[in-house]
Amino acid sequence: MKVLIFGAGGREDALAWSVGRSGRVTEVVCAPGNGGMAQRARCAPVDLKSIEAMVRLVEAERPELTIVGPELPLSLGVVDALAARGFRVFGPTRAAAMLETSKGFAKQFLERHHIPTANYAVCSSPAEIEKTVELFHPPVVVKADGLFAGKGVLICHSRQTAAEAAHGLFSGALLGESAGQVVIEEFLEGDEISFLCLSDGKHVTPLVPAQDHKRIGEGDTGPNTGGMGVYSTDALLDPAMTEWILRHIAEPTVAGMAAEGAPFTGVLYCGLMMTARGPMVLEFNTRFGDPETQAILVRLESDLVDALEASIDGRLAETPLRWAAGASACVVTSSGGYPGSYKTGLPIAGLADAAKVPGVEIFHAGTSLKDGQMLTAGGRVLGVTAAAASLEEALARAYQAVAEIAYEGMYYRRDIGHRALGKAKSHSS
Ligand code: AMP
Ligand code: GLY
Repeated sequence: MKVLIFGAGGREDALAWSVGRSGRVTEVVCAPGNGGMAQRARCAPVDLKSIEAMVRLVEAERPELTIVGPELPLSLGVVDALAARGFRVFGPTRAAAMLETSKGFAKQFLERHHIPTANYAVCSSPAEIEKTVELFHPPVVVKADGLFAGKGVLICHSRQTAAEAAHGLFSGALLGESAGQVVIEEFLEGDEISFLCLSDGKHVTPLVPAQDHKRIGEGDTGPNTGGMGVYSTDALLDPAMTEWILRHIAEPTVAGMAAEGAPFTGVLYCGLMMTARGPMVLEFNTRFGDPETQAILVRLESDLVDALEASIDGRLAETPLRWAAGASACVVTSSGGYPGSYKTGLPIAGLADAAKVPGVEIFHAGTSLKDGQMLTAGGRVLGVTAAAASLEEALARAYQAVAEIAYEGMYYRRDIGHRALGKAKSHSS
């Protein structure tokens, strides 16, 4: 069968790799893809901001399965447009994707369905912002409604900075575009977990848990990024906690969306804070995480295509997933200067040697292939990913492979997995 994947990042390269391992798949098309995907699959140019362009491409390619990677095409309704034309497509409808595209909708949905989340208020005028900020104790979290690639969330250490941030998001002064609504919420403390599930509209199947590293600097310092690395081990969540999260968060979310007339099919990514009061939802994403997908898929032993089709067809309850025991880790290498400005078009050396490290898969995020030479083409360049029997070994393999790779200005965090390793040490001492 032929599978088409929309997107151009590390997540989509990992999806292309995993789909390519399915015994049923004969052809993978990536649109638009990147330098790494051009080596695994055929790439077809497309504008992910244009529904018409995406529909035209699917009509020309006629894939048996289309997978939508990023949030932007989901927010535009690409799944609705393709499904209406009879194509099989994995991902939520535009209405179901509102769990990610509108933070105001998501918070009010969580409240309606009694799903644990931080206390909050949604403000839709400057006067409301002034009144609301007075009710919160610093630190106060201020979030823009809408898709702002992680840049729309500000943690403010005084009421005054919170009010300024909320006014800035509301007016458009901070993001260049007005947020329309601003969510002001309670600051939660704890460990963050990325809890991703597949849903077929009724049933929920969890993927293995992961922990992302969003800040650019070691020790979780400096500005937020798209994600500088991630790891996955079963030790992140014990079976009782996984069960609790399914019963109190993931399943009520899927049941609630169905009850509200927007059944959720696709990946429900629950961004959770493990607080002293139990797990609470920080945010939903309605797609695979990036770089979580890289670390999750290297542990998947069953066929990804079977699982995605079961989600589309409402058969997830009969389609259990098998996972490799142990752990995985993904170390992102970025361009010097990221998340600020950076150079592109720089040659990348050492990829072949890095790929020889046992258990390692190198997923490309921001690369392009020109005359046989791999070049940097984005802020996050590579996701060097390894699976192994233990987290220590997965990290050692990933860093051994990273050490083979070189390009001008290459940066990566040397402390991916530090929280889990620190805990293991403190338990044993
Ligand atoms: P979001 O896009 O809503 O997940 O927010 C981005 C990041 O901001 C999260 O991954 C958290 O690290 C942080 N964050 C969001 N909401 C809160 C909160 N209520 N308390 C503490 N940190 C938060
Ligand atoms: N890793 C965070 C995200 O995919 O949004």
